[in-house]
Amino acid sequence: MNTKNNVVLITGGSSGIGLAFAKKFLSEDNQVIIIGRSVSKLEVVKKQFPKVIIEAADITDGKSIDMLAEKYKDVNILVNNAGVHYECSFKNENGDFSKLRNEIETNFIAPVMMAKKFIPLLIGQERAAIINITSYFGISPKPSAPIYSATKAAMRSFTKSLRMQLIDTHIRVFDVAPPIIDTPLTTNSNPNVKKMQPEELIEIVWKDLKNDKYDIYPGLSRLFYILSRVNPRYLENKVMAITSK
Ligand SMILES: NC(=O)c1ccc[n+]([C@@H]2O[C@H](COP(=O)([O-])OP(=O)(O)OC[C@H]3O[C@@H](n4cnc5c(N)ncnc54)[C@H](OP(=O)(O)O)[C@@H]3O)[C@@H](O)[C@H]2O)c1
Repeated sequence: MNTKNNVVLITGGSSGIGLAFAKKFLSEDNQVIIIGRSVSKLEVVKKQFPKVIIEAADITDGKSIDMLAEKYKDVNILVNNAGVHYECSFKNENGDFSKLRNEIETNFIAPVMMAKKFIPLLIGQERAAIINITSYFGISPKPSAPIYSATKAAMRSFTKSLRMQLIDTHIRVFDVAPPIIDTPLTTNSNPNVKKMQPEELIEIVWKDLKNDKYDIYPGLSRLFYILSRVNPRYLENKVMAITSK
C-alpha cells in the first residue's frame, strides 16, 4: 500500500490507536479526516494538528454513515477503527442490553455499513484500501468480554470475505489485530500486563501496510495467532489466567 498522498478517513481518530494512525498519516502528507462523537475531544486534536479534518458523528447511526459517504467522496483509505470494550457477565440476571447492543453496533455493524457505503466510492479511486482494526481477542476470546471478543472474531471473518470478494478490484483489505495497547480503552485492564504504546504499534503496522501484508499481528498477537493454530486449548487457558483479575 502506498502510504503517501491519500485521503484517509479514520473512525475513532480522537484518541488511542486511531489518533496514532492519524498522526502517522499526517506526517506522510496524507489528508486525514477523523471521526468521533465528542466534539471537545476532536477539537483538542485539531488544535494540536491544524491540518486534520474533524467530523463529529456517531457511526452507530446509519444517517451519520450516509452523511460521511456523501461528504467525503474522495476518500481512498478507510480505517475502521472506532470501538468500545465492555466486560459483561452472563451469570446474573441484571444484563444491560443497551450496552451489549451498542458494543455490537459500534464494533461490527458500523464498520460493515461503512464498508457497504464506501466501497462503491473506493472502486472509483485509482488505488484504495480498507484497514479494519480487530483484536487479538478476535483470535482467542477474553472470557470476561464475550461480546467484544465475538465482534472482533466477526470482523476478522468479514475482513477475509471482503478481501476475497474484492480480489478483482484494486481495493486492498487489511486486518490489523493489536495486542493490549495503552489507550483510554484499557484504563482498567490488569496492571500486571505490559501494554504497547499506540505509536509503537503504528510503526510495526506501517511496515506491514507498505509491504501489502494483509493480516497484521503486532507483538503478542503473533504468538496468539500461532498458538491458536497449534495449541488452541493451551492459549485459551493462558488467556483465562492472564485476563482474570
Ligand atoms: N487498546 C487496546 O488494547 C486494543 C487492542 C486491540 C484492539 N483494539 C481496538 O482498537 C480500536 C481503537 O481502540 P482504542 O484502544 O484506541 O480506544 P479509544 O482510545 O477508546 O478510542 C476509541 C475511539 O473511537 C471513538 N468512538 C467510539 N464509539 C464511537 C462511535 N459510536 N462513533 C464514532 N466514534 C466512536 C472514540 O471517540 P468518542 O468516544 O468521542 O466517540 C475514540 O476516538 C478499537 O476498535 C479497539 O477494539 C484496541
